[in-house]
Amino acid sequence: MRRVYNFSAGPSMLPLKVLETASREMCNWRGTGMSVMEMSHRSKEFESIIEHAENLLRKLMGIPENYAVLFLQGGASTQFSMVPANLMSGGKADYINTGSFSEKAIAEAELFGSVNIIASSRDRNFTYIPESFEISPDADYVHITTNNTIEGTCFKEIPDTGNVPLVADMSSNILSEPVDVTKFGLIYAGAQKNLGPAGVTIVIIRKDLLGRHREGTPTMMRYDVHVKNKSLYNTPPTYSIYMTGLVLEWLDELGGVRAIEKINREKAQILYDYLDESEMFFTPVEKKYRSIMNVPFKTSSPQLDAKFIEEAAKNGFVALKGHRSVGGMRASIYNAMPVEGVRELVDFMKKFEMENR
Ligand SMILES: Cc1ncc(COP(=O)(O)O)c(C=O)c1O
Repeated sequence: MRRVYNFSAGPSMLPLKVLETASREMCNWRGTGMSVMEMSHRSKEFESIIEHAENLLRKLMGIPENYAVLFLQGGASTQFSMVPANLMSGGKADYINTGSFSEKAIAEAELFGSVNIIASSRDRNFTYIPESFEISPDADYVHITTNNTIEGTCFKEIPDTGNVPLVADMSSNILSEPVDVTKFGLIYAGAQKNLGPAGVTIVIIRKDLLGRHREGTPTMMRYDVHVKNKSLYNTPPTYSIYMTGLVLEWLDELGGVRAIEKINREKAQILYDYLDESEMFFTPVEKKYRSIMNVPFKTSSPQLDAKFIEEAAKNGFVALKGHRSVGGMRASIYNAMPVEGVRELVDFMKKFEMENR
């Protein structure tokens, strides 16, 4: 069997061990005689699966008891509206604009109330993270995107927002390095990068923020309803939750978030070191704010970029095409990408540079 190195921004690579376990358990989950896909979400077997996933996530992220963990649907994009629907009770929120996904979150929030963009890196094409801003004392919350998947930047320090709850879209860097959950009022993340397959979205919410939803919020959009029903108000994405549990087990066995952080930093360093010395490839992102998950890079010619992407794919390095809004290339090197994948990619880039000078 030939597996490629898949640099897709999401859905992205999953650990081979997880896929193998899932394939072994596909038709008969632990003696039940059925697949997890065929199982009632109200069965005790599925209850054990969702509890296991939640317990592992709590352990790996150090999520305290005063936070609820939800497994929802609708992707991170649905959170762009669930967050204001549930938290914008005073009609005002602060947003920091660091890229396309922040802009999408802002556009949704504007449907609910007054959005104050307290800082933006739009002036330099989102190649940095703004560090100076003032939080409005009467804001219901402050929203940030901790890692910008398309632009390849990330917050190196989590801002201190005082008494105003901090809400974070952590879709593309959750579990990549340790974070202090207590700094946040709410964290959300689509699973399809570091957690599992598409279909499930994780929400971690401080319990005192529940019940602040605006009047008329549809039932399915209310965090308090999902918390009360332990993510089983309706049929949840059962198979994606099971797969997420397997990914979390894999990460736990590896040594948890500190262990994966070390591996992630090593991978990023290998790639950035080469980009810094290369005469052909470069990254537009300011050094201080470089993401360790998504690495955008380019040559000086779109034709050469296209040739590189094509030849890379032929050599087993796939999905390196940059997002259509920025062009060039992007290597997404999430948790499941092994160090060898990045090393081999850099060897290939060096060879390409030599041959195309
Ligand atoms: C940072 C970030 N936020 C939001 C999204 C949108 O997620 P979804 O497609 O799950 O709605 C993505 C998807 O790539 C993302 O990277």
